[in-house]
Amino acid sequence: SVYPVILCGGSGTRLWPVSRESYPKQFAQLSGSESLFQSTLLRMSQAAQYKPPLVVSNCDFRFIVTQQLDAIGIEAEAVLVEPEGRNTAPAVLAAALFLHAKDPDAIMLVAPSDHKLPDVSCFNEAVAKGLGALDGGTLVTFGVEPDRPETGYGYLEVDTAKEANAALALKRFVEKPNAEAASKMLMQDNYLWNAGIFLFKVKDIIAAFETCAGAMIEPVQQAVTEAQADLGFLRLAPEPWAQAENISIDYAVMEKWSSLAVVPLKTHWNDLGDWNAILREATRDGEADSNGVVTSARATAIDCENTMLRSDSEALEVVGIGLTDVIAVAMNDAVLVASKDRAQDVKLAVTELKERK
Ligand code: GDD
Ligand code: MG
Repeated sequence: SVYPVILCGGSGTRLWPVSRESYPKQFAQLSGSESLFQSTLLRMSQAAQYKPPLVVSNCDFRFIVTQQLDAIGIEAEAVLVEPEGRNTAPAVLAAALFLHAKDPDAIMLVAPSDHKLPDVSCFNEAVAKGLGALDGGTLVTFGVEPDRPETGYGYLEVDTAKEANAALALKRFVEKPNAEAASKMLMQDNYLWNAGIFLFKVKDIIAAFETCAGAMIEPVQQAVTEAQADLGFLRLAPEPWAQAENISIDYAVMEKWSSLAVVPLKTHWNDLGDWNAILREATRDGEADSNGVVTSARATAIDCENTMLRSDSEALEVVGIGLTDVIAVAMNDAVLVASKDRAQDVKLAVTELKERK
């Protein structure tokens, strides 16, 4: 049986102003009726192979986590709370050490909570295939067919046999390449995007950490051992936690470990990381008009092209006239107006606003 481990401690600044420091994108209602965090949980509760999830989040979001778990009727195995964000490597290691103490043979399925992956049965089939590839200490990743030279993702190099129906040996893991390297990999047909989902035996990932990021074991182990139970949360001990290196699992372990496999995820997947991705997704879902314009309630576009106008405020009407390649998002207390090709830079605005406070 498999423990889903849901990572939901990120801050999602590129989706400001809907994604906020106090209420980041994974918990926000970006589209549909559930948050991405809730759809992630539901995806992993619909097959018999899953145990209750382990949620790893930041201390600031702990009550949002419990409220959103309650709303969909899911009871977590535990909610691990980080005193401060140290990125995904310490978060995954803490989950692995916690589960290892419970059951040394446990298997964990690590999932980010910022993805759209609507085909649940395809996902669960891929997980089942991944389970078949775990022997011999292999760490399993999930790969998506790339369609643009995205620099915000990891790339998985495989042999050419992309059509194979089982897990493939992974030759190389390249995290967040530069634009030139990304274009090169896109042109070859033996690279997949890393979906950010990982499957492994807890003892294997701990062994991989020992080899690739040994200095992290002691502080994280101490933070888990000395964790305080508090209102249903398990609060990791702050002092040792602060000693853990601030680094993602991709850089800390995946790029360095040689025993990796990838299961191709042959279904629609999207990391809803910035407004461009939201616009792309809405277009895919048929929400755009013939000029590529997507509008929400209380938003009106006149003679616009490839533009998104969105009002999340009951009190604000948004009107765009003659705009091309623009993204505008209005909330009660903040309005974003950006050129579509600068969607990545929304995070700079958030930094600047923070500094001004
Ligand atoms: N608990 C916890 N603590 N969760 C975190 C933290 C943290 O400090 N930092 C990030 N997360 C969560 C985020 O909320 C998200 O759900 C997930 O971990 C992944 O973090 P991101 O920051 O969104 O990573 P990324 O998108 O830049 O890159 C990863 O995902 C890509 C696919 O979306 C990498 O795995 C890439 O290789 C991959 O292609
Ligand atoms: Mg992401």
